[in-house]
Amino acid sequence: MIKVKWFGHAAFQVSIDSKTFYVDPWISNPLSPVKGLPEAEPDYIIVTHDHGDHLGEAIEMLKKFSKAKLIGIYELASYVAEVLQDQTRVIGANIGGPIDLGEGYKAILTPAFHSSGRGAPTGVVFGKPGKFVYHAGDTGLHYEMKLIGDLYKPTVALLPIGGHFTMGPEEAAYATSLIRPKYVIPMHYGTFPVIKGTPEEFKEHLRKLNVEVNVIVLKAGEEYVITD
Ligand code: NI
Ligand code: MN
Repeated sequence: MIKVKWFGHAAFQVSIDSKTFYVDPWISNPLSPVKGLPEAEPDYIIVTHDHGDHLGEAIEMLKKFSKAKLIGIYELASYVAEVLQDQTRVIGANIGGPIDLGEGYKAILTPAFHSSGRGAPTGVVFGKPGKFVYHAGDTGLHYEMKLIGDLYKPTVALLPIGGHFTMGPEEAAYATSLIRPKYVIPMHYGTFPVIKGTPEEFKEHLRKLNVEVNVIVLKAGEEYVITD
């Protein structure tokens, strides 16, 4: 079972069987219906890079949920550990290195073509074989996405489509053709006027490229459950 809830922008809560992850938890983004911090306790909070719209409320959430650990690129994780004065709350790693989360779960930070202040920007693959989710982070289109598809065969891809700072609808459609997930969920659009790519344009480009995929367009606050 994979349960994906979108809070708007790049913020997701993803449950894969018994483990719950938040990714890029900017829960207070303008699209989000959630006021304050979310209720569900996560096992892990993954942050793809240190831009404010991705780090979001991660530190507040680590304070609220005392068992949760942050996963991120080494320099970002070290910064969060310093703020919390607690090394045990973070798992700092680097791109391409599988992080063993126990019980068959793992996370792998992936390349992202973007910028960041602390360490390199990343995407992330997380879950377990046959139930991987790929959150691309903020990125332009890159060919490493094909390797991610070949190696991890993600069931779900969460891809930015807004343009300007990340892929737009056309690039995200091409990315989908490289990753070949069963489901794709567009994100990082509509939060600000400048990130103006739409799910309709994304679907149109997927049609032009003949990409076979289930496009799941969520409203902010909405959840989608995959049982197969
Ligand atoms: Ni960014
Ligand atoms: Mn962003």
